[in-house]
Amino acid sequence: MKSLLDRDRACLWHPYTQMLTAPAPIPVVRAQGVYLYTEDGQRILDGISSWWVNIHGHSHPKLNEALAAQARQLEHVVFAGCTHRPAVELAEGLLQVLPAGLTRIFYSDDGSTAVEVALKLALQYWQNLGQPRRSKFIALHHAYHGDTVGAMSAGEESVFTRAFTPMMFPVARAHAPYCYRCPLGLQRETCRIDCLGDLERQLAAEGEAVAGVLIEPMLQGAGGMIVWPAEFLAGVRRLCDRYQTLLIADEVLTGFGRTGRMFACEHAGIRPDLVCLSKGLTAGYLPLGATAATEAIYEAFLSEDRGRTFFHGHSYTANPLACAVGLASLAVFREDGVLARVQALERQLRAGLEPLRRLPWVGDVRVIGGVGVLELASSEAGYLASAGPRLYQEFLSRGLLLRPLGNVVYFLPPYVITEAQADWALEQIRGVIEAFGSVT
Ligand SMILES: Cc1ncc(COP(=O)(O)O)c(C=O)c1O
Repeated sequence: MKSLLDRDRACLWHPYTQMLTAPAPIPVVRAQGVYLYTEDGQRILDGISSWWVNIHGHSHPKLNEALAAQARQLEHVVFAGCTHRPAVELAEGLLQVLPAGLTRIFYSDDGSTAVEVALKLALQYWQNLGQPRRSKFIALHHAYHGDTVGAMSAGEESVFTRAFTPMMFPVARAHAPYCYRCPLGLQRETCRIDCLGDLERQLAAEGEAVAGVLIEPMLQGAGGMIVWPAEFLAGVRRLCDRYQTLLIADEVLTGFGRTGRMFACEHAGIRPDLVCLSKGLTAGYLPLGATAATEAIYEAFLSEDRGRTFFHGHSYTANPLACAVGLASLAVFREDGVLARVQALERQLRAGLEPLRRLPWVGDVRVIGGVGVLELASSEAGYLASAGPRLYQEFLSRGLLLRPLGNVVYFLPPYVITEAQADWALEQIRGVIEAFGSVT
């Protein structure tokens, strides 16, 4: 009989995978807590929370029960013209934990579509207000917002997007506060967040044509796990207010506790006009996106003129199974002291990774909430840096699943990871990174 891997090879095409040269995929048969169990009997620690989605651990009893109970009741129904309890209750629950002033939830399918919805809402908001000139977006260098065309356009040009340039629309780009590779060559200890000046100059020049500024607050993910000073985030809000444009926060990665607060915007005490959510929204169970909006944005779409409607929707909008799990996840946050656990993990990551700074080949160590990052001071930077695949194999051979972003190694486990499990993972990371210099 053919193995699962042979059958996979015969019919599948994996995401972000060069099918000619990539190592064979890991055949996972079940998962529990922080561990994945493979067909050939291995146990692997999921150090990237299954592409950053899992927060309470795999196969969580409360989430399993919520999913099964919902499946017995209502698996799905069209959301245009119908409603259901899971969609309403999840929206109510989200609005309770989101920054005050966000009052409406628009559901979609995943992180990319949550971003598409935000961009389209922003654009049409200004049209509905009679200001169609506000049609441009500003995003940041190193940004990543997803792989659909609008989300790609908002992301930094990179190997991910190059082939698709002809189908993308122009988005202006301002400096990000990437302190280790400061765009202005300054030092964080002495700078005054001078990098914000770039956004300010662009808003001063073009402010009246700008529909919105799109950011990944506090932690830019796929662009290199770049951790921000909170002052930059506060400054972006200030500038959007000054130039009267919308602030769109893509919290697809940072939402639901990943940075140690429920939402990353809380680090600067700001309220965006639109917030994009996905990933941790269903604790890693099912695809679901949500875009939260202020009442002012919502009201701009209310009209006797049906042409002002927001014409956007997906077949699986507000899928009840996904909403039911999302609701159960919010209950886990309330009942199980989840944020305190993330904050303890942050202290452990800092203590475990900071000592690696002494190695000449470790350029930077960054920690925020449940994310620990090592940026190798390699001359080859970026996603295609050859260190990535080599390190992936090294970690995997020790039973730890990490997917370095080229020369950036990060550890981003489910929050349920115990102190002992995190200690073990940090020991593997230290072992691999300490040995790495001798082979580069
Ligand atoms: C900040 C951010 N926005 C959007 C996305 C896209 O989400 P999805 O992969 O669910 O489409 C991602 C995915 O990694 C992300 O990190």
